[in-house]
Amino acid sequence: MSGQLRLRKDFSNNESSLTKVSDCSERPGSVCASLKAKNLSLHYGDFKAYDNVNIEIEPCKITALVGPSGCGKTSFLNSVNRLVDLIPGSKLRGELSFGNTDILSPSCDLIELRRKIGMVFQRPAPFPFSIKKNFHIPLKEHGISKSSVRDERMEQSLKDVGLWDEVKNRLKQSACNLSGGQQQRLCIARTLSLKPELLLMDEPCSALDPVSSEKIEQLILSLRDNYTVLMVTHNLAQAKRISDNLLVCWVKDGTGCLIETGKTSEIFFAPAEKLTKEYLQGVRG
Ligand SMILES: Nc1ncnc2c1ncn2[C@@H]1O[C@H](COP(=O)(O)OP(=O)(O)O)[C@@H](O)[C@H]1O
Ligand SMILES: [Mg+2]
Repeated sequence: MSGQLRLRKDFSNNESSLTKVSDCSERPGSVCASLKAKNLSLHYGDFKAYDNVNIEIEPCKITALVGPSGCGKTSFLNSVNRLVDLIPGSKLRGELSFGNTDILSPSCDLIELRRKIGMVFQRPAPFPFSIKKNFHIPLKEHGISKSSVRDERMEQSLKDVGLWDEVKNRLKQSACNLSGGQQQRLCIARTLSLKPELLLMDEPCSALDPVSSEKIEQLILSLRDNYTVLMVTHNLAQAKRISDNLLVCWVKDGTGCLIETGKTSEIFFAPAEKLTKEYLQGVRG
């Protein structure tokens, strides 16, 4: 994503966004760390996927990242929890932090980072094991040694996503036998069971039928007060319905860039950039 980010008054590195952080801390259970990127760029070898990203994601809100295919949305999400490290030749430059955590520091604890910053992928990706094991494996990996505690975490997070009643009598069956929508809710529950602070979601509804998609949308809305959600969506109507803030990206000279950020309602009502207007109207992109 390259180009100068146009910050609006209520969604920037300024005083007003700090006020929102403290408002958030008064809500029980809320986590207030904010994700900040400064002059962030990503190369895959010689190819610059995105450039000059400057953002601060508002805590305890839903932020939607939209833009045409290839503008670096997935690459950006994969940068935030350092999944891009798995791609040989990838290079992140600039600054990226989550609360006090310097994400780009060589000493950043990646296991802890990926617990704090959970990821939900476009296609539901349950482990090819039982529903129960889908929770027990990552929870054990993250140091929850007592099986009863892992069970409690599993039950609570399955309840949080509205899946407990559908699966409580089949916990030993393969997670792969669930429907696509149930698998996606299971993946969200598995992420929630690790008690993340920031949830990254990469087009979480795009592989689902409309009914399952609606359920996931409602679920994301229900998470808003307690989690910070950064969600990529191709569905502009969905972004308009559920997000508080919007990041619009584009490809300029072959490189992804952010072209406009701000409150979703304001951008849909009066986009500042011509490109944003044309994209939202379906004329471009
Ligand atoms: N592993 C990779 N190696 C090289 N180029 C990549 C890789 N992954 C993505 N890209 C390129 O980076 C750009 C951004 O891709 P991506 O982040 O998937 O965009 P989006 O999610 O917005 O569609 C595209 O040009 C894509 O081809
Ligand atoms: Mg993508």
